[in-house]
Parts: sequence; C-alpha cells; structure tokens
Amino acid sequence: MAALLEVSGLSVHFGGLAAVKDVTFSIEPGERLVMIGPNGAGKTTLFNLLTGQLKPSGGKVLFKGQDITHKPVYARTQLGMARSFQITSLFPNETVLTNALIALQGTRGGRYRMFGVFTRDKVLRSAAQELLESIDLWDKRSETVSSLAYGETRKLEMGLSLASSPDLLMLDEPSCGLTPTESKDITERINTLGKKITVLMISHDMDLAFGVAERIILLHFGEISCEGTCDEIRANQTVKDIYMGSHKASTAGG
Ligand SMILES: Nc1ncnc2c1ncn2[C@@H]1O[C@H](COP(=O)(O)OP(=O)(O)O)[C@@H](O)[C@H]1O
Ligand SMILES: [Mg+2]
Repeated sequence: MAALLEVSGLSVHFGGLAAVKDVTFSIEPGERLVMIGPNGAGKTTLFNLLTGQLKPSGGKVLFKGQDITHKPVYARTQLGMARSFQITSLFPNETVLTNALIALQGTRGGRYRMFGVFTRDKVLRSAAQELLESIDLWDKRSETVSSLAYGETRKLEMGLSLASSPDLLMLDEPSCGLTPTESKDITERINTLGKKITVLMISHDMDLAFGVAERIILLHFGEISCEGTCDEIRANQTVKDIYMGSHKASTAGG
C-alpha cells in the first residue's frame, strides 16, 4: 500500500539555527506514529511544516501522493489532514457549542459565515451534538470555553480536530499540562479512533507515546536520531542517553 504521508529531506532554518534537518520518513494508512524528543528537538517546528503553518527551506511533503509542500493550511485540511495544536486554537469567549459549529463549518470548505447564520443550521447542529457527545462535553455546550477546566479544554480541542473526519490526525503534545488521569483519557480516546484515521502524534510524554505508538521516531537537534517499535525504543541506548538523561554510554565501551 502506498504511504499516506511521505516526507523527504525536510529542513527549515531560523537564522543560523537548523531547527529541522533533512528529515525523511513516511506513514502508512492506519498507522500510529509518535515523534518523541527532548524540549527544543524541533518537534513542533516539524509539525508546523507538515500542517503548512511554516514554509520549509528545503525538502518535500507528499500526502496521498500529492505534493503539498507549498500548499496552504486550508488546502491540506481539505485533502484530509487535521491538526490539534499545542497552543489552543479555540475561541475562548464563545460557547462550547459555537466552537463545535465553527469547527464543523470550517470543514465545509468556506470561510466562517456569520455566527447567527450557521447556529440555525440543523444539519450542522446535529453534527455538533454528535461530536460533543463523543467527547462527553454536550452537557457543557452552553458554557464559554474560557470557563472550562483545562483538561476539558484539551479534550474539546482534540475532539474538534476530528470535526473534518480526517484521514490523518496530527496531535502536538496532547497531554501537555494534563493530570495523569486526563492524560490516560486522551490515550484511550486516541486508541478508540477507527483505523481509518491515521495518527501522527508528537509528545515528550513517554507514557503517552508508548500507550499510543506502533512506531516511534526520536528527533534530536532537528534530526531523526533513531526509530523503531516501542520495545526497540525502550531498549535503545541512544534513546536512554538522549532522552532519559542517562549518561552511562559516554563512558562505556571507550
Ligand atoms: N519561530 C522561531 N524562530 C526562531 N527559533 C525558533 C522558532 N520556533 C522554534 N525555534 C527554535 O527551534 C528549536 C526547535 O523548537 P521546537 O520545534 O519548538 O522544539 P520542540 O517542539 O521539540 O520542543 C528550538 O531551539 C527553538 O528555540
Ligand atoms: Mg513542542
């Protein structure tokens, strides 16, 4: 089967800093791939290159065989990519329901219409109800997003990234700032997604990574340092050295 996403030689520089260096990997349809790496490794930058938030200095990104390297964010969304940000992209002063309606409306290809118009759209409203029920937030539909608990906000954000029924769901640090229980909820939610949805997750939370991944890639100083299954990554000495703060290898074996 052809890869869903094919990334080759992707790079970006910020002034003299090569934040992402010659990154090459691909994701098969249905796969759960997790990128790990310490803070500053370039994970979010890579994510932004893939979503189109950021323009690469070099390299290529193919999605469903199409070259999307220079396509804008909305075009990628229309092709079936969805992203959930590390920094929230919700409208804090609008209600949960309105946010769901905006997310669903956004997937219909147009620009945002005036709120008053689409909140009366019955099809959209029932889709919003279904979406909010699937993340247990229907009861909170009339609350403003700013009044939600942090964990609920993160759950809403992830739920709304599913509004477009994406083929590829991209999550950047979905457990960031969550309690262990909330983080487990997120893990479960990801694991109950159908295999029609391919998942690319970025995380420095190893529990979350091991809880979701079929394959893990370690990013270090903007480069792919190693990759493997969860077991391979757990046993990998480079991962232990770089990621888990063990420095034994520097003295071992000369
Ligand atoms: N817009 C930017 N301008 C300049 N440097 C940046 C910018 N965004 C990120 N960086 C730098 O690029 C490196 C990678 O950052 P980032 O992708 O956020 O890492 P991670 O998500 O793995 O923690 C860091 O050194 C960071 O300071
Ligand atoms: Mg990051």
